[in-house]
Amino acid sequence: MTAELSPIDRAKYAAAVRAVEFVKDGMKVGLGTGSTAAWMVRRLGEMVRETGLDITGVATSERTAELARAQGIRVVPLDEAGWLDITIDGADEFDGELNLIKGGGGALLREKIVATASDRMVVIADAAKEVARLGAFPLPVEVIPFGWTATRTLIEELLGSLDVLGRTISLRMNGEAPFVTDQGNWILDLHLGRIGNARQTSLVLNQVPGVVENGLFIDVCDVVVIGRGDGRVEVRDINTGDVERARVEFAEAGNAFADLGD
Ligand code: 5RP
Repeated sequence: MTAELSPIDRAKYAAAVRAVEFVKDGMKVGLGTGSTAAWMVRRLGEMVRETGLDITGVATSERTAELARAQGIRVVPLDEAGWLDITIDGADEFDGELNLIKGGGGALLREKIVATASDRMVVIADAAKEVARLGAFPLPVEVIPFGWTATRTLIEELLGSLDVLGRTISLRMNGEAPFVTDQGNWILDLHLGRIGNARQTSLVLNQVPGVVENGLFIDVCDVVVIGRGDGRVEVRDINTGDVERARVEFAEAGNAFADLGD
């Protein structure tokens, strides 16, 4: 079955398989959103069903909650779980300091709340997500629909004072209508090209009335697990500086590929 997967999916799967090794019995686990995170949720589900792993999940989106429940994982709201042991999530870009751009899947707000309510955030990504400097991926900014054009104008003005290459802003669409987040908000994608100072950009964006949150995750991620299509994985811990290299055997994929309905 794995032979039918694209190299990028194999890379995502490899990262997910290594990352779930951080999850232990009794843990409260933040479950990310996106195609890489979906591999992780399927793998955790497999462990719950087959080895009796006892975990409580907190989902970062409605679609992840649905997938996790379908996999047999107990899912509760963040307020019921309280503080989490670990969150495992994907990313659109990560840099050498493990700062991230997230929100390609539109779940950045819940993702940031869940990740920052965790002892540890582990990012899972294929190697193509690593960048020297953030910004090639359009930066998602969640805004409330009321007065969104005024919010966009304020952001445009603000970008003039920031160290960024591009200043184009687009409203994310879902067909003919704006894309609506799980919180009922909209997303502006900022085509910045290159973000000179990600920390400053994040702080300044969140000062604009109408902005709920932006997709820059600064000092949130602790560990990145980078997967490659041939099964190689690299685990980098930003706190200890440790780097571990291993290989995931796709033959061990088990049932993870058997239920790819989504
Ligand atoms: C969703 C996200 C995702 O983690 C990010 O878009 C990566 O997605 P994928 O794993 O599908 O490449 O931030 O809001």
